[in-house]
Order: sequence, then C-alpha cells, then structure tokens
Amino acid sequence: MARAGSELRLDGSGNPVWLLLELTYQCPLQCVFCSNPRNFADYRQDELSTAEWIDVMAQARAMGAMQIGFSGGEPTLRKDLETLVAEADRMGYYTNLITSGIGLTEARLRALKDAGLRHIQLGFQSTDREVARQLAGVDALERKLRMARLIKSIDFPMVLNVPITRQNIAQVPEIIAFAVELGVEYLELANVQYYNWALLNRDALMPTHAELQRAEDEVHNARERFGDRLTIFFVIPDYYEGRPKACMNGWGTIHVTIAPNGNVLPCSQASNFKDLTFPNVRQQRLEQIWYDSPVFNLYRGDAWMPEPCRSCEDKEKDFGGCRCQALLLTGNGANTDPACSKSPHHQLIRQAVALAQEATRPQGTLITRQASQGVELETAP
Ligand code: FES
Repeated sequence: MARAGSELRLDGSGNPVWLLLELTYQCPLQCVFCSNPRNFADYRQDELSTAEWIDVMAQARAMGAMQIGFSGGEPTLRKDLETLVAEADRMGYYTNLITSGIGLTEARLRALKDAGLRHIQLGFQSTDREVARQLAGVDALERKLRMARLIKSIDFPMVLNVPITRQNIAQVPEIIAFAVELGVEYLELANVQYYNWALLNRDALMPTHAELQRAEDEVHNARERFGDRLTIFFVIPDYYEGRPKACMNGWGTIHVTIAPNGNVLPCSQASNFKDLTFPNVRQQRLEQIWYDSPVFNLYRGDAWMPEPCRSCEDKEKDFGGCRCQALLLTGNGANTDPACSKSPHHQLIRQAVALAQEATRPQGTLITRQASQGVELETAP
C-alpha cells in the first residue's frame, strides 16, 4: 500500500490520527454493557510495560497521530498513567482520559492535570442508586458523584458519558439536570451499542421505540432551555435508524486501538474476529502494521464489499457499516451490516427491535461482566 503523506485518505492510505490505548482490561466495575473482550482476564499477565507504551505512542505520533485516548478497563488502575500522560503531552498529543472515576483521588487528578491531561470522559450510569448498581454491577453512585464534582472543581473540561438503556432512559431529565448543576461542557447520551456483554444482554437493555422518542423530546427541550451552557449529544441506536453507522470512519482509515498486550486493532471490538491473527507492537513497527498487515487491509477500499454495498451511493459515507456488527450478527464480517435496511440480513435487526417492544426479558437476568466470564458469545452461522 502506498504511503500518502499527511493528508486524510478514506481508502486507508492516509495516516492514523486517533490512537486508543487500552492500558488494562482490569476494572472495578462489572457493567452489563461492557465492551471489553469476553476473555479479558487472559490479558492480565501480558500488559505492555511503561517503556513499551511510550514507544508505541512515539511511533504513532511520528506517523501523524494527534489525539490519544487512555482507556481500559479502568486506565487509572495503571500506576504509570501520569507518566504516560506526561509523555503523550510532551510529544504533542491531545490527551483524553476515559474513566469510570472509581480509583481516582484528588491527588491523582491534580497529578494528571500537572502531567498535561487535557480532557476527561467520565462514564456514568444513572442518578438513581439502584439503577446505577444494576447497570454497573456494583454500588458506585456516591463515588461517581463525588468524582464528577471533583473533576469539575479542578477545572478539567469533561464529557459525561451515559450509555442509555431501557433501565435508565426514563431518567434522562434528571441526568441532564445533574450535568447542568455540575457545569460539564458536554453530555453524551449514547444509546448502547450491542457488542460483547451488551449483545448478551440486548433483549433486556434495548429501549422501546416509544421510550426513545420520549428521551429524544426531552433532549430537544433541554437544548432549547440550556442553549450554549451544555452541549448534548444524543446518539440514536443504529438498530432504530435503518441506516448503518460509519463505524470508525471505515476500517483501518483513521483509527488504531492497542490492546493491553500490544495487539494492534482497527477498532476496539475487532478481537471478536477469532480467525484473524492480530499484529503486535512487540514484534512489528506500527508503520508496517498500519500499511502492510493483512488485518488492516482486510476491509479497506471497496473491493471487499458485497452487493448491495458495492454499488450503493452511500458507500463513501457509511463504508457498508460496522464490520464487527456484521460478524457478530451474521457470522461473516464482510457482509453488509444488518443495521442497513438494504442488507439481506436486516431481518435480524427487525426481530431484535420487535422483541424489545415486548419487554419480555425480566431485568433480573442481566448478566454482569464478571458473572459471564468464560461464557462464549455465539455468532450467527
Ligand atoms: Fe469494529 Fe465497528 S466496532 S468495525
């Protein structure tokens, strides 16, 4: 594949601009919609060292990457987080910490500020204690509220990220009020994407169409009321859209995820492709992986696309949708994303949506990340 200089190229011959470092898959929470791999415990003994993370950040920066996310699991469980943030800042990255807030202290927050951390994304489940416990698998609401207030008192720009499910969708007005009281700049009400645990729990998590409509109306009213004081993103689930999302702006186009063990992935869900051998930064340079590895070239361009994607007028906008969703729902990552109404597999989405309207699955059956460890996720044949 030709090297194309610094410009952004949607065919994958440009450079990575967005680097996500999954520092560890360890986490104090047990969220029922956790997007980590189901075998997260296998990575524990094999995490990259501080020096290895710094080296991979330097390689990506030299290729033109500008934005870095420190994620997990819970990235604050890594004692070297401050060191990594300081190095990233020194290299010129815009740094973002994606955290549950559990495990943070005032001293660490101040140290991260001194290290140059620019932005924090705090995950939040609900303002209702029982709902928050049900979704996070542990009782963490008080600590999260305390941490949210502390982050703002230290003057970090912050986005409050709330994965929306049937369990918390009725609390959208209270969550908006909390965000306003807190003074956060951005509130992201992101309807849960159905991968890994969220897919296991999909029937219990998916809101009904009427619930979504009500929440969207609340968001609309709040935008009018609060204007510039708070920017609210309301991310509609692709199950309800009829159109696929332009996942990662296309596979291998602008994004790189590095797993805790150094595996390099085109997105954080890609380890669901069990038949792929993922390149690793311990064996190869990032540049070689980005340009030449079979994994990163697998779904670039449009040669891989089946019909109706290949002749679709939207293929440059949505790239055929999400490869991981195609894999998990149809068993073949090259299929058109079933979220697309033109997909021959779209009935899989229609059936799931129809089931969600019936509210058949008791909420007590929600499976937490820990409880389901070792349970194999079935993909369609
Ligand atoms: Fe992997 Fe969409 S989550 S391509």
